[in-house]
Amino acid sequence: MKKITIVGAGRVGESTAHNLAKNETCSEILLIDIKEGVPQGTALDIQESAPIYNFDTKLAGSNDLKDMAGSEMVVITAGVPRKPGMSRSDVLDTNLAVLNEIVDTAIKHAPQALLLVVTNPVDVLTYAAWKRSGFERRRVFGMAGVLDSARMASFVAMETGYSVRDINAMVLGGHGDSMVPMTRFTTINGIPIEHFLSKEKIEKIVKRTREGGAEILSLRKTASAYDAPAASIAFMIDAISRNRRHILPAVAVLDGEYGLTDICMGVPVVFGEQGMQKVIELPLNAQEAAEFKRSAESVREDLVKLKK
Ligand code: 2OP
Repeated sequence: MKKITIVGAGRVGESTAHNLAKNETCSEILLIDIKEGVPQGTALDIQESAPIYNFDTKLAGSNDLKDMAGSEMVVITAGVPRKPGMSRSDVLDTNLAVLNEIVDTAIKHAPQALLLVVTNPVDVLTYAAWKRSGFERRRVFGMAGVLDSARMASFVAMETGYSVRDINAMVLGGHGDSMVPMTRFTTINGIPIEHFLSKEKIEKIVKRTREGGAEILSLRKTASAYDAPAASIAFMIDAISRNRRHILPAVAVLDGEYGLTDICMGVPVVFGEQGMQKVIELPLNAQEAAEFKRSAESVREDLVKLKK
């Protein structure tokens, strides 16, 4: 990729830019933020690490959304984060207004770009971005599942003591309390985790995964998670820019898959050239299907607020 724009030079935006630069995922990164000097300073600070990390990616900062012109990818991290005790849905109204402005600018100035939504509530805002942009669904998706799955894999590693390299976790559904950690599809070198962990331990991991974002927020108090979210965003973009055809859980527009339409939520998708290439439909058992349905209902509750 040539140019990637990250809107929002907060901690997620900053860490994403640094990850992308270190990986040389693209030749240009633009950070945009409304705070004067902040995206410029952040870009320069990251740029000055180039001789140490050995990357040739050029970084710049701007306070003008229009500067996203020519971007192949626009990552949307701008918005207000939740405070301890708030749910991701509590920030919907404020963040929707921010998202709309970014999407409108993309339609005009970066009409070919893929849109990667990170701002919460991510399922609803991905849907809003897709509707408002009128873009094909392959071009609009959200980051949640890679992060939730990484959290789950980390907890499995902590609990078993085995290498994270061997652990494959999968979390689907909405990025909220109703997310669906798929224990049946979570393995250590292909061996289901049930082989290593008791039912109680697995339940503990599932709960901790669901509350993973809140756990970080309650520890830090004034900041949500950003290191693992940024790593997750960079991982998704790498799959697209290098056409890796990675199967990753992500927020996608559903068009009949899992019996759902006109909704966005976390499902396994294939990422490669052109963005989201395909939604993979897993054969869910009765319990998984029920949890998935409950998760879809909770995303729909927020979608109704959007349509008001
Ligand atoms: C998280 O789960 C911020 O929603 C994000 O940490």
